[in-house]
Amino acid sequence: MKVKIAPSILAADQADLKNEVAKVELAGADMIHVDVSDGHFAPNISLGPDTVQSLRQVTRLPLDVHLMIEEPEKFLDRFIDAGGDIVTVHAEVVDENRLLDLSRTAHSAGKKLGLALKPSTPLPSWFQARLDDIDLVLILSVNPGFAGQQFMPSILPKLAESVELIGDRGLEIEVDGGVDQKNAAQIVKAGATVLVAGASIFRKGDVKTAIQQIRDVSDRTIREVPA
Ligand code: DX5
Ligand code: ZN
Repeated sequence: MKVKIAPSILAADQADLKNEVAKVELAGADMIHVDVSDGHFAPNISLGPDTVQSLRQVTRLPLDVHLMIEEPEKFLDRFIDAGGDIVTVHAEVVDENRLLDLSRTAHSAGKKLGLALKPSTPLPSWFQARLDDIDLVLILSVNPGFAGQQFMPSILPKLAESVELIGDRGLEIEVDGGVDQKNAAQIVKAGATVLVAGASIFRKGDVKTAIQQIRDVSDRTIREVPA
């Protein structure tokens, strides 16, 4: 198994996204994490479907769109049409039935649906019942809105719980927020299959070295974890 690395462009130079994406693609990133926040669900405003559409033109990597917005059902179609490959919605703003609708919409378009949780949000009571309807679980390890915050180890029990409930179903388990070259081993050991990293990739100076270091740590850790 190989852990996927998803650089978060929230931490990139927003006036130079085309080159920033090209750099991480060349450096071996597995997907591009695109954070969308609406100023309501998260206290910041980032980007919208038009930017996703432009990104779609400049990379072959899957676009992993993280919707930190209040009404994902209003925008899911737009982000799918724009070229999002995985679109992730937050558990705080959907119930079981709405999740099912969103899942049908995404899957009928041939796209994947993810379910995200803020650090303080427990797994919903319906989590296990809906595992066949989602493709990815995103455990947010910082409060939503900004790149460059510190990883919150308080999410580790929830990560362990999701790994346990997911078992061998093959869903991706993505950890997002404050992931860096130092804590990647602990997070991979706990069962993450996708590492989102913003500041530790784009704000370190050399993107290639930054990705390579996270890759080395993850590969080494995976080899150490008994199957
Ligand atoms: C937080 C976002 C994260 C964030 C990751 O609102 O969902 O994706 O940009 O950036 P770092 O790795 O810098 O915490
Ligand atoms: Zn994110």
